[in-house]
Amino acid sequence: MITICSLLLALSAVGRTPPFAQVGVTPPTRTQPGLRALAKRHHLNIGSAMPVASLRNDIDSGQYSAAAIYTFNMLEPENDFKPPAVWTGPREYRFTEGDFLLGEPGKTGWAQAHGFKVRGHVLVYAQDFGYTLPQWLRKSESSLSKEDASALLHDYIFALAGRYRGKVAMWDVANEAIDDRPNQNPYNLRNSFWFRKLGPEFLVLAFKWAHEADPRAELYYNEYGIEGGGQKAQHLLDLVKWLKEQGAPIKGVGLQYHIDCHTSISPGDGHYKLIDDLQRLRLAYMITELDVAVRLRLPSANTNRDQLPNDPNDIDAQARVYASVFQMALSSRNCHGVQIWGLNDRYSWIPGVSQGRNGLATILDRDYKPKPAYAAIEDLLRK
Ligand code: XIL
Repeated sequence: MITICSLLLALSAVGRTPPFAQVGVTPPTRTQPGLRALAKRHHLNIGSAMPVASLRNDIDSGQYSAAAIYTFNMLEPENDFKPPAVWTGPREYRFTEGDFLLGEPGKTGWAQAHGFKVRGHVLVYAQDFGYTLPQWLRKSESSLSKEDASALLHDYIFALAGRYRGKVAMWDVANEAIDDRPNQNPYNLRNSFWFRKLGPEFLVLAFKWAHEADPRAELYYNEYGIEGGGQKAQHLLDLVKWLKEQGAPIKGVGLQYHIDCHTSISPGDGHYKLIDDLQRLRLAYMITELDVAVRLRLPSANTNRDQLPNDPNDIDAQARVYASVFQMALSSRNCHGVQIWGLNDRYSWIPGVSQGRNGLATILDRDYKPKPAYAAIEDLLRK
């Protein structure tokens, strides 16, 4: 209840008239900081993935942006900086969403106006399907020489990272380049368009060009399925070690952390060991896409409605998992932040990607009310 009050306080603080009646509560009567204010005490970057359109259109009568401002100090455009969204043709780019968020050159945008750091995601998404690689590029694969491909990538990185130079705190330079199944490639790299065209070097080049385009941005290699250790994590460690040896200006590794409510994370286990291994390589890390999925009672045809947990205890289990991730982040020297993949359960990608089997994966419910997971993080940050 207290947290709901403080959410409402934040709603009023950003100068809107929130639809109080809609959520069935009265206006706030006391002050309590939201997660954003508590995170400040710990110098913690706490972020969320958000579609820029949700901010631009001030969706849900302003509740979306108000909850964002109250809860987070960092944001990452969920899809708007992915290559297919920006790179519309050979040397043709679309910057509409980026300009709204960060301002066109010489100006500022929504993020600066509301005190958000921005993570850019992602310069090279090393898979070949629709939301990762522009399909015009894929179609022209056979007619592009290695030099052509290299020049296109160079110009793309300079166009995007250069346009927002000095405004982006961190860039995911490359994402998901390592294969899940063993193959014969160095570092088990995926057989992606960029690998086929340029070999493993595409990663070194992307880091170098990103650094030249925006020297102040922290540069990350981002990956899924490595949290907790295992074979893929070992490939990752080998890869980033090699990248450093090649002189790639890599600051850290983004650990996606798409996990579920039965995941165990505690000191001394594989999660902590990976963090230590990265520290030994003098690399930072960031939890970049945290969500903690819960099994739903029924697979739902309409994946965004009427979600109920199959086991009601899972909501508390989820809170403990969220707390354990934040605990790890707060206890390690090389953590540069924690970011949740989706502002609330309504806009999370989990129901969609699991065909309605899983959901309820974020810390605010579909009506923006703080969940037990939110309270668990709040308790930790209060200490
Ligand atoms: C997801 C988005 O959340 C969805 O909206 C989109 O349809 C597909 O991509 N790893 C990543 C993210 O690095 O970019 C993905 O985002 C989720 C998995």
